[in-house]
Amino acid sequence: MNEEQKIRWGILSTGHIAGRFAEALNLLPDAELVAVGSRDQTTADSFAAEYGVARAYPSYEALAADPDIDVIYIGTPHTFHFDNATLCMRAGKAVLCEKAFTINAPEAEEMVRIAREEKVFLMEAMIPRHVPLMKQVLAWVREGRIGDVRMVKATRCARGDFDPEGRHMNPALGGGSLLDVGVYVISFASMVLGKAPVDAVGMAHLGSLGSDEQGVVLLKYDQGEIANLTFALRTDAVNDAYILGTAGYIKIDETFAVPNRARLVIGKEAVEVLEEPIEHDNALIYEARETIRCLREGLLESPLMPLDESIEIMRCMDTLRKPWGLRYSNDGEQEYGLSSP
Ligand SMILES: NC(=O)c1ccc[n+]([C@@H]2O[C@H](COP(=O)([O-])OP(=O)(O)OC[C@H]3O[C@@H](n4cnc5c(N)ncnc54)[C@H](OP(=O)(O)O)[C@@H]3O)[C@@H](O)[C@H]2O)c1
Repeated sequence: MNEEQKIRWGILSTGHIAGRFAEALNLLPDAELVAVGSRDQTTADSFAAEYGVARAYPSYEALAADPDIDVIYIGTPHTFHFDNATLCMRAGKAVLCEKAFTINAPEAEEMVRIAREEKVFLMEAMIPRHVPLMKQVLAWVREGRIGDVRMVKATRCARGDFDPEGRHMNPALGGGSLLDVGVYVISFASMVLGKAPVDAVGMAHLGSLGSDEQGVVLLKYDQGEIANLTFALRTDAVNDAYILGTAGYIKIDETFAVPNRARLVIGKEAVEVLEEPIEHDNALIYEARETIRCLREGLLESPLMPLDESIEIMRCMDTLRKPWGLRYSNDGEQEYGLSSP
């Protein structure tokens, strides 16, 4: 792809995060937001007017068929990610798909298989992976500044008066805390430790709607490392994270998933502090930039959010929710869970 050419984007859906993503693209000089697709023409038109998008389509199919689009961002509820991403990839489009990647690991495996078959770029939109400060935190870890990592602790809780019909809590839309916010802490542990757990246990509370309102999980890794992770949608918390090593620890301040402050502590002393504001207060910029970089370099996946890792994260969540009796309509009859160590 020519360095001079802008990467041409489509946005599939018009909800909250789709709007934020449109704002992010409009801040990037090498991105062009060409089109939006909605289930409804009026909604597409008003989104297009608000964010200055040239083309507004009344269906996701019409968006996917637009020959002037390189990559499509998917911001629908979790239950639709697989169908939406497949539609776009089969039309030859690269895809940046919101978290959680899919509803379950079998969907994730199939989605990745299709991306590879079609030879198109695919990535799960996982903000923390792309924030510059997080990359510096990982450099501390890789340089052995805290010795061997033995434990990871992270919290991602949010309190909202969520519409029971809406995507946060409605099980029919893949609602619940595990897929919405639990995915951040599980993905964080996976990124820091660089591998999938060999054991995963936890507890969750399923509320009156049948979706999981809160959960605490423990993941164990092959060298005895343990991750202690908390997530919820009906309680707020200090959403920070710790990486604990044999020589010291790292604390990432709230909100660790969109980090702007971290410190490296040896003994009781903070020996280094990182502080860096999020550009334009919109962290979606970073994952959009990484997508553009990958497309320009002809990469079919990003080393910062590898596809096999997205599958492993879905597998881990499948394993965790099975004993909770938490199943989604997309699950079917398949058995699922962690891969054999
Ligand atoms: N990265 C982040 O920081 C972040 C933050 C929030 C959410 N997310 C993720 O982004 C995705 C969307 O979240 P959101 O908060 O933007 O959701 P939302 O505001 O409810 O928007 C979802 C959009 O999906 C489309 N949609 C298609 N089928 C739908 C259905 N049956 N019911 C409802 N909407 C449907 C709708 O667009 P049309 O009407 O135009 O078709 C709708 O506006 C989720 O995967 C979520 O986890 C990520």
